[in-house]
Amino acid sequence: MNDRNLLFSPSLLGGNYSRAKEEADVISQSGADYIHLDVMDGHFVPEITFGAKFIRDLRPETDLVFDVHMMVERPEDMIPGIAEAGAGIITVHYEATGHIYRCIDMIKESGAEAGVAICPGTPVSALEPLLGTVDYILVMTVSPGWGGQRFIPAMVRKVKELDRLRDEEGYAYRIEADGGISMENIGLLYKAGLDIAAIGTSFFRAADKISFLEDMLGRAEGTL
Ligand code: DX5
Ligand code: ZN
Repeated sequence: MNDRNLLFSPSLLGGNYSRAKEEADVISQSGADYIHLDVMDGHFVPEITFGAKFIRDLRPETDLVFDVHMMVERPEDMIPGIAEAGAGIITVHYEATGHIYRCIDMIKESGAEAGVAICPGTPVSALEPLLGTVDYILVMTVSPGWGGQRFIPAMVRKVKELDRLRDEEGYAYRIEADGGISMENIGLLYKAGLDIAAIGTSFFRAADKISFLEDMLGRAEGTL
């Protein structure tokens, strides 16, 4: 029996921001389930990308749910603006705020779904008090801040642990992984319990995006 589903959230960061609308179209037409938008503030991570205005401007260009990954310090300051701009999922980093509960509450009150992300050095146990309250847990499989980095295999264990806790305790969160995901590691991640793959570089490198996602699913399910 296999009623599991693997969803894809291609990251615009892997494309060209100067052609954001066209890249969003590429993602929409690929059969993906979400579009992953990486907000970076130059503090939590060195790079700066965009904020609420960009998200608001992009919103009418695609029907896909915006999966917004906030790599910013004090995300509580930005949550209302990002929600109002049209985010469907807002994920904040556990490491970025002293008020993670308040952030989750703010996201839920905005009508968006709430996610919490952990950097490679943060253990799953840090999230234990939050597991019953969040809709998504994002496991960073590289250090946050840049596309095109090498996948860290030790992170697969975190996905497995989150899947086990979900089973044992009856939690409802979905597990997302982000960073360095490719044909080489999607099988391991899916087997560990992954629900959503955020993919930048390998997605945009593929000449045919539709068959790329089909092949990823095949690799995940072991049919390829
Ligand atoms: C990195 C971002 C990712 C990035 C992934 O910090 O959070 O979403 O776009 O890109 P790849 O797949 O190239 O690692
Ligand atoms: Zn991301």
